[in-house]
Amino acid sequence: MGNDLKERAKKHITPALVFHTDIEVEKAEGLYVESADGKRYMDFSSGLATANLGHCPPEVLEAAKRQMDSLVHSGCIFRYASQVELAERLAEITPGAIDMFFFSNSGAEAIEGAIKLARHATGRQGIISFVGGFHGRTMGALTLTTSSAKYRRGFHPLLPSVYHAPYPYCYRCLLGRIRKDCSLECYEYLEGILRHQISPEDVACMVIEPVLGEGGYAPPPPEVLFRIRDLCSRNGILLIADEVQSGFGRTGRWFASEHYGLEPDIIVMAKGIASGFPLSAFGASSRLMSKWPPGAHGTTFGGNPVSAATAVATIDKIRKDGLLENSARLGEYALSRLHEMKNRHAIIGDIRGLGLMIGVEFVKADGSPDKAGLERLMGRCLDNGLIIIECGPGKNVARLMPPLNVTREEMDAALSIFEEALP
Ligand SMILES: Cc1ncc(COP(=O)(O)O)c(C=O)c1O
Repeated sequence: MGNDLKERAKKHITPALVFHTDIEVEKAEGLYVESADGKRYMDFSSGLATANLGHCPPEVLEAAKRQMDSLVHSGCIFRYASQVELAERLAEITPGAIDMFFFSNSGAEAIEGAIKLARHATGRQGIISFVGGFHGRTMGALTLTTSSAKYRRGFHPLLPSVYHAPYPYCYRCLLGRIRKDCSLECYEYLEGILRHQISPEDVACMVIEPVLGEGGYAPPPPEVLFRIRDLCSRNGILLIADEVQSGFGRTGRWFASEHYGLEPDIIVMAKGIASGFPLSAFGASSRLMSKWPPGAHGTTFGGNPVSAATAVATIDKIRKDGLLENSARLGEYALSRLHEMKNRHAIIGDIRGLGLMIGVEFVKADGSPDKAGLERLMGRCLDNGLIIIECGPGKNVARLMPPLNVTREEMDAALSIFEEALP
């Protein structure tokens, strides 16, 4: 066992699956993962924004063990407490009137469920999502995903009646505008879709990430979200917030929508919900949920007893330890240190973020994306015990997304490694 894993994997694990690093981990605890050869790393990827309490959080493991001792699986044959308890907790923390949930296993699967609900409830077929967004890899979710054409290559034709408006990713505006003097042409483009391509009466839903994730870690200008919310409300279009990456405290609130006072009709969540146990959900008001009949959607594993119990424990731990506040506070601290670094290092073109969802964009002297520069930085960070991963269509945005319970000392240590690795 151990260090021949890469070679063994080559024989039996599909090459389609790409790993961000070659580290073979035997043990992980809190912020740290330990490789088979005994090296410790600070995991500033949180296993893709999922281990929000750090790796293997004791309270969550305890909840899993307790649940495993009594019931592991139901397959929708019988009811059990952990799923209901989780739905009750989610009703407390989700924005607006959302109080009813469907549980699935992954982000993409929950997106599929959300768009099925929207189509069923409205009797309309059209869907609008935003260029640059990432919503998953299953065929429906992939149709909404445009963070990179690479994800879609070889899979056409995708779902029909899906349209895309530019995501308001202002640093690299797809319409070539500069935020300080633009008139939100991205929103006008969206209106244009409804004028020229699909009439509003045919649109079931718009799907948007309240903070752009995979596509570049970029919070949008609030005004665009207000207008999109209003446009949907005026036209009976359901607004779906994809909070798969931005949810569960990542941005310093339970959900990023809260930063904007945004009340989506449907909210989609996964990743941080259960500290790494496979679980996702989409939620809506009971009024909306009751528009699709029993049997309209289903699942064997979704919301299984163990994952549900770990999600309850995750929510309770975030509350008990004040981790939303810690995420907001440490995020602001990191942003201020990064802004100082920007003054010293020309390779940093832009810094943005909410809470502990922070993007640092690497640029060449002419402002174009510097993918190679970021690769070098990630390599140096790795050598010095810090895991940083990238995102953005140009793969030139470092995303800093440590666990919500990261301490000031750990943040300082990580940022020092980061700065030392900068040219
Ligand atoms: C915003 C968003 N939506 C959906 C997904 C898909 O989630 P999963 O990989 O669990 O299917 C992701 C994954 O990164 C995501 O970031």
